[in-house]
Amino acid sequence: ADPGLAERARAAKAALGDDVFVLGHHYQRDDVIAFADVTGDSFKLAQQAAARPAASSIVFCGVHFMAESADILTADHQRVILPDLAAGCSMADMATAEQVAQAWDDLLDAGVAADTVPVSYMNSSAAIKAFTGRHDGTICTSSNAERALGWAFGERRGKRVIFLPDQHLGRNTAIDKLGMSEADCVVYDPRRPGGGLTRAQLQDARMILWRGHCSVHGRFTRECVDEVRNRVPGVQVLVHPECRRDVVEAADLVGSTEYIIKVVDEAPPGAMFAVGTELNLVQRLANRHPDKKIVFLDRTVCFCSTMNRIDMPHLVWTLEALARGETVNRITVDPEVATYARKALDQMLALP
Ligand code: 13P
Ligand code: SF4
Repeated sequence: ADPGLAERARAAKAALGDDVFVLGHHYQRDDVIAFADVTGDSFKLAQQAAARPAASSIVFCGVHFMAESADILTADHQRVILPDLAAGCSMADMATAEQVAQAWDDLLDAGVAADTVPVSYMNSSAAIKAFTGRHDGTICTSSNAERALGWAFGERRGKRVIFLPDQHLGRNTAIDKLGMSEADCVVYDPRRPGGGLTRAQLQDARMILWRGHCSVHGRFTRECVDEVRNRVPGVQVLVHPECRRDVVEAADLVGSTEYIIKVVDEAPPGAMFAVGTELNLVQRLANRHPDKKIVFLDRTVCFCSTMNRIDMPHLVWTLEALARGETVNRITVDPEVATYARKALDQMLALP
């Protein structure tokens, strides 16, 4: 790391004072996250986005869908900035607005749309969030997916949910938290006519899962879990719910990034964890707790390449531009899209 960059970032941030608010997701690099005013999982960052109305600039060290959500949730005078516009999310890209509109048409054709509730993972574009709001659904994150599904089937009185775009979070939550079975879930494949599902399958399903996944978490396998248990006897396997079903089934503990941090932070000295989530976070936990044994669930899995695009050169460039009174890389959501996306985000923020 170039110490000159850290010095420049510090100077620019000090010059901006309360006019800038920096948010950092737990998957960010160590040197970048050191400049975050608030760190968190996706839910906490959505809650915190609007916490500093005095700041005219919100610098989001995370990925595009998070910055879009921040733009939707913040006041009009605030601008949200993503230090590298190429910091997207491959999972969010797996559900386009056109594909989701087609899927809804398929549900209408099958006569099931009226009692189907959209529940969309935060990791989706603003357009997908707007679709969700237009059909009176909710957004969820990995820390409130159980409550979101509970709301969809309870208060909202849905007979089934269409869950976008992470099939694993949807399936894991439905089975582990709501007591459903595999047979209650079907997978809608946007690349196939009718999603590859028959009318009867759509009618009988309680969970219509979108065929999407996280390319980082999708690489953990059941074999990794078996291998680490052999290599580190007594280890507790702690994974994110974006992992595949067989991995989650074989794990000891499952939860969001905020949950993973809490479990490791609160464990006694000598505790041993094999953590199945993004590498920046696992390495940070291992460095913070030299008295505990923290290993990566699979030694071949790597960083989230898009989260890692936010690096010190981009952060410094962003902060120095702001300090000169210039705005770079602003993320704005179309007002019509933002209105409906906000409805779905507000529904999430109002979940009990
Ligand atoms: P959480 O931080 O909400 O657990 O989400 C993980 C993630 O994949 C964000 O992209
Ligand atoms: Fe997207 Fe997965 Fe990276 Fe999260 S870790 S930003 S879900 S690709």
